Amino acid sequence: WQASLHGGLATEPESTSTTRLPSLTVLYGSQTGNAEALAESLGHRASARGITAKVVDMADYKPRQLKNEAYVALLTSTHGEGEPPDNALDLHEFLHGRKAPSLAHLKYAVLGLGDTSYEHFSQTGKEFDAVLAKLGGSRLVERVDCDVDYDDAAEAWFGSLLETLQSEAGAAGLPTSSGNPAYGALASGGHDRRHPFPAPVLDNLVLNGRGSGKETRHIEISLEGSGLSYQPGDALGVYPQNDPRLVAAIIERLGQDSDAAVKAGDIDTTLAGALQHHREITLLTRPVVERWAELSGSDTLQALVEDHAKLSAWMESRDLFDLIEEAPVTELDADTLVKTLRKLPARLYSIASSQAAVDEEVHLTVAAVRYEAHGRRREGVASTWLADRLAEDDSVPVYIEHNKHFRLPEDDETALIMIGPGTGIAPFRAFMQEREEREADGANWLFFGEQHFHTDFLYQSEWLAWRRQGLIDRIDVAFSRDQEEKIYVQQRLRENAAELWHWLEKGAHIYVCGDAERMAPDVHEALLDIIVEAGGKRREDATEYLRELARQKRYQRDIY
Ligand code: 2AM
Repeated sequence: WQASLHGGLATEPESTSTTRLPSLTVLYGSQTGNAEALAESLGHRASARGITAKVVDMADYKPRQLKNEAYVALLTSTHGEGEPPDNALDLHEFLHGRKAPSLAHLKYAVLGLGDTSYEHFSQTGKEFDAVLAKLGGSRLVERVDCDVDYDDAAEAWFGSLLETLQSEAGAAGLPTSSGNPAYGALASGGHDRRHPFPAPVLDNLVLNGRGSGKETRHIEISLEGSGLSYQPGDALGVYPQNDPRLVAAIIERLGQDSDAAVKAGDIDTTLAGALQHHREITLLTRPVVERWAELSGSDTLQALVEDHAKLSAWMESRDLFDLIEEAPVTELDADTLVKTLRKLPARLYSIASSQAAVDEEVHLTVAAVRYEAHGRRREGVASTWLADRLAEDDSVPVYIEHNKHFRLPEDDETALIMIGPGTGIAPFRAFMQEREEREADGANWLFFGEQHFHTDFLYQSEWLAWRRQGLIDRIDVAFSRDQEEKIYVQQRLRENAAELWHWLEKGAHIYVCGDAERMAPDVHEALLDIIVEAGGKRREDATEYLRELARQKRYQRDIY
């Protein structure tokens, strides 16, 4: 019994062999690497139990191969508005297309990774699960959809999947091995998502000028002694603290005692401590509202819970305090309150520095999120903690979230087109620091947008210095509110259609970072228009051209 991890494509089944090994193909669709890491872990776990496992990136998997598979575990995240990760796009499309084969012989299982605060929670996992069933496949175990804090749910799913596979093997009269338990434990040693490093803050300054409508901070954090390292394009996970004023308001509204002893997972703390450090209170998620509807017995909430679209709209910009106001629950046990809420997940920030330039530091570009909604002032938990509530000696619990889908080209001669309005500028500062240190010759073209030139040209002096010294070839800016008509980066792209097309044809890579909801789709449209107009392609061919760029990792996005 052998494990062949990263074995690439599964081999043809040996129909002549009488003792066919149970072989599990683990396919992953992963954007930030979480689904990939889980897939690897499942592969190790399977082989430890004597099940041959191949772990394959969906982008490297020939969809037709599915016809030859007996057992498939499919792990995928969902991102944006319910979209598959980039590396899952082709397989997803193939299975939903006319050429999809019958999969009557296939036994499969799906694990979805998602975030219950999004309307289309785990949409891609649900779609793969449904389409595999539609094509005739049968489930080995039921799909599980995991929230941001996925470890326990994934672990439970691994267990039941592997047990089912073993009993399948047993039923087929195949030997099963007790396996090598050492395989199951993947030593990580240092700091990671579950073991963040308490990092000291070295510097924290506002980048915007006086009178700006924005508060965007440049934050420098020390990683000294952490053993953590990162590449340009990676993100920093930051575990924030909630606002004690909001915590106090919630506790008071519920008539609870701040000092009541509670458990937050394995941690013994007070109710106030749990709500400040360990539980999500500034965002509502569907499971929380569902549970609250039960606890409160509120008909209004119950009706909301039964209407998917209405609930999504209602939860928008509302927090736990609003939920309590809507449906007060008296005589609630403090432990029940803590159990009802989800763990406070880390917030991810695209890193704005390169270690080649800043060594054991990491820099962030963070926009403080503050706005009015439903008659109250709202604040983003992590950004305003970093901006307002961080005390002198506080450390920030951090880890590195690697993002291999946002990487500089290996070839330093390759030209870059970087599109990063607002805080989307962050990874491009990292890219330029890195290229400066490497003395990379490739051309660099930056598109940046913000509200006002005078107050919001983030890192202006650094960009201008890089342009003077010749590292950057072109900078095109779109200051949206300096004139009557709004001007956005995509207008600058369109104005430069011919030149951009020329860069693309010469092999340039395009990177887009920033707002996922409006900016990234608008920029995508602009790129399509440019390929049609300057490239003389038909619309369908332009779409395919961009898809092909994405496959070749020449069109990469880090959008949020
Ligand atoms: P606005 O706030 O004036 O609308 C960074 O936030 C910059 O992105 C701002 O100048 C903002 O303009 C702009 N922006 C807003 N919507 C955008 C969109 N759909 N595409 C590109 N940029 C956009």
